[in-house]
Amino acid sequence: MSNTREHIDNISKEILIDQQTLKNRINELGKDISDYYKNQASQKELIIVCILRGGFVFIADLAREIRYPLIVDFMDVSSYEGTTSTGNVRIIKDLEESITDKHVLLIEDIIDTGRTISHIINILETRNPASIKICTLLNKPERRVKKHVKVDWNGFDIPDKFVVGYGLDYNQKYRNTPYIFVPELDKI
Ligand code: IMP
Ligand code: MG
Repeated sequence: MSNTREHIDNISKEILIDQQTLKNRINELGKDISDYYKNQASQKELIIVCILRGGFVFIADLAREIRYPLIVDFMDVSSYEGTTSTGNVRIIKDLEESITDKHVLLIEDIIDTGRTISHIINILETRNPASIKICTLLNKPERRVKKHVKVDWNGFDIPDKFVVGYGLDYNQKYRNTPYIFVPELDKI
């Protein structure tokens, strides 16, 4: 199987979000997030946490649109095998930084059932951060199981379709596609 753009065109059923639309929305999110933290009464340190691996493209673009001093850290969890949620969240890599008394902003590629983010929040809350907020690029509201998960900043609500590109994978591939598309899984 080749990994060329031609191949991606072949398996792409539908481009869901193109590059320009992603860029525009991420600019807006960056402005909203900057305004929010600038207006906090307590000017505590901000740590933005990339939930690996899917969040790496989004956080790279978003971080450069945030006008507030910040620290970047990474956490690796795994909950998916193929296209179905196992409901099994494994911590593979923990944060390097202490988050005690700091503002934490979790950066996700997508919130689907909400199990992953809710599990991460439970762990991080025990470390007494000043606050924990969630920013996700994509959100599938129809699929939510963890109803209490409150998304603070959301790029796009999308329908219940499996999507890849811009950090999101299918069996670890297609993360480098610069837009979000719906793959034809039988052609992969
Ligand atoms: P949740 O725990 O069900 O909310 O799933 C969250 C994680 O599942 C995300 O961080 C993604 O890594 C993965 N995921 C959920 N939906 C998709 C999708 O449509 N494409 C690729 N990965 C997905
Ligand atoms: Mg993920």
